[in-house]
Amino acid sequence: MTTRDKLIVGNWKMHGNHAANADLLQGILAARPFVAQAAVCVPFPYLSEAAVALANSGVNWGAQDVSAHEQGAYTGEVSAAMLHEFGCRYAIVGHSERRALHGESDQLVADKAKAALARGITPIVCVGETLAQRDAGETEAVVKRQLSAVIHTLAHCIGEIVVAYEPVWAIGTGRTATPEQAQAVHAVLRAQLAAASAHASSMKLLYGGSVKPDNAATLMSQPDIDGALVGGAALKAADFVAIIRAAA
Ligand code: 13P
Repeated sequence: MTTRDKLIVGNWKMHGNHAANADLLQGILAARPFVAQAAVCVPFPYLSEAAVALANSGVNWGAQDVSAHEQGAYTGEVSAAMLHEFGCRYAIVGHSERRALHGESDQLVADKAKAALARGITPIVCVGETLAQRDAGETEAVVKRQLSAVIHTLAHCIGEIVVAYEPVWAIGTGRTATPEQAQAVHAVLRAQLAAASAHASSMKLLYGGSVKPDNAATLMSQPDIDGALVGGAALKAADFVAIIRAAA
């Protein structure tokens, strides 16, 4: 048996506005206390508001991306140092939407994870295969390749990251990996981490992809699934809270 606390992270993606965010955070806060750890990753312009709203609440917040660079002429980028100034706890890196739509390579993702860690921000490193890759039997090879770049770049610090397995075909599609499919990949990732770090057994591996209140408990009851990275269902307080509670 493991003693890893569960962690539920909401990824708001490019959704929200002042009023909707305030309602959502209020709804989450009103439902405390939670047994599981919870965090929300909000769009950059709203980070400081979220930081104020969530101060001392026990609910953490994070960014959805971070620059691999420390500072400089990188128009549009946000550095880990800037996020750190606001008390940022997490940064998602390598989300499949960024890999696919913004051409992020495995090495760039690894460099972003390193930049985050250097400022005390826990990177939530996303890995996952497309449907074509799964159908071709390449799932294991793809996620191992993605994680391998991070393992090599972070070296002995690898134990400090959170990994999120998000099969691309399950994101926003309503099509969830079965608990068995997800567990099988999580076990592969845990074994890969164990070969690199003595801390692998205490690392959190989240599942993401159409996690909803009605499938969350079964997914998170798998031995190597330590929580969830939630997209659509994280935009409704009642659903997000139900998922946090399902983790307990
Ligand atoms: P959905 O929960 O909307 O499928 O999104 C998952 C995701 O991409 C979280 O990062």
